[in-house]
Amino acid sequence: MSGPNTEYDPVEVTPLGAEQVAAMRDEALAAIAAAPDLAGLKQTRLDHAGDRSPLALANREIGALPPQARKEAGQRVGQARAAVTQALTERTAVLEVAAEERMLVEETVDVTLPTARRPRGSRHPITLMSDYIADLFVALGWEVAEGPVLEAEWLNFDALNLGPDHPARTMQDTFWTEPASDHLVLRTHTSPVQARTMLSRTPPIYVICPGRVFRTDEYDATHSPMFHQVEGLVVDEGITMAHLKGTLDHFAEQLFGDGITTRFRPSYFPFTEPSAEVDLVCFVCRGVAPTVDSCRTCKGEGWIEWGGCGVVNPRVLAACGIDSKRYRGFAFGMGIDRSLMFRTGAEDLRALFEGDVRFSAAFGTEW
Ligand code: DAH
Repeated sequence: MSGPNTEYDPVEVTPLGAEQVAAMRDEALAAIAAAPDLAGLKQTRLDHAGDRSPLALANREIGALPPQARKEAGQRVGQARAAVTQALTERTAVLEVAAEERMLVEETVDVTLPTARRPRGSRHPITLMSDYIADLFVALGWEVAEGPVLEAEWLNFDALNLGPDHPARTMQDTFWTEPASDHLVLRTHTSPVQARTMLSRTPPIYVICPGRVFRTDEYDATHSPMFHQVEGLVVDEGITMAHLKGTLDHFAEQLFGDGITTRFRPSYFPFTEPSAEVDLVCFVCRGVAPTVDSCRTCKGEGWIEWGGCGVVNPRVLAACGIDSKRYRGFAFGMGIDRSLMFRTGAEDLRALFEGDVRFSAAFGTEW
């Protein structure tokens, strides 16, 4: 005879019994606690909380239970799953912190370790500046001209209208060489390159000549027996002082920045007539209402001496075989070292010549 089996308690005999569910939960919790890292925990999550995990499968079975058993079984499984989810969340947090700490340790860089790196070399700032100046004139269509540092006395002086009695020819300024009968000097300026150029070519002439020059000066913060000049020379028809002024303004602005232009002060050089000293707008105060105290660089002048210039003396043109009726020229000359000091702020000329690599490293990569 059949009838309802009232003795049968399905909750206790199916896999959803309290012990089985607790066993599934405890196994899951143990696995979570044992997960060594986030990757391991990922697998544990799949095994114990994934779609095919024992608890998920048990959950699916609830629907198959007799109605009176579903509620209790549902609670049991639900609580077990919640416990597993919470344990996963907590373990994730713990392992994330651990992972981060390990990363900090493993990826630590000891910035104090010595390296095998070699300092990069750099060109000497004077070389760079000479090249830069040459380049900016080449960009105007000029050519670079050179001459020897051991120069004929005639080219260094006579051709430039520096007569035999000129003070620059005395022993005080000039390094003479022996035997004196060779009439050779270490050139005292780059101006002989002007004479060499005019003697070897025909106008139009547009040349820029950077180079070393020598004078018997004491070696101190503002003097050196060897230093550098740059000479410019133009010989063409219809050349005027205005061309000279425009060229020097451009030169100055390229070297020292916009607004740093030039002014001329009347002066005398045997090789130019008229002649002028060239001043720059003070590149520190920019010539704006300076006083002796407010600008140490120009001492309140608003201007800084830069070099010399003028219209080439017809006597020089004639000495170098150029028709001075047809052609006129202008010329200028300035110190490269001095210009470099202006740009770098170096206050002692010797910094340029001592060969300390720190000076080259700091200023040899400019431009
Ligand atoms: N040679 C001159 C010097 O050493 C500088 C100079 C002045 C050069 C005027 C020039 C010039 O070409 O026109 O002091």
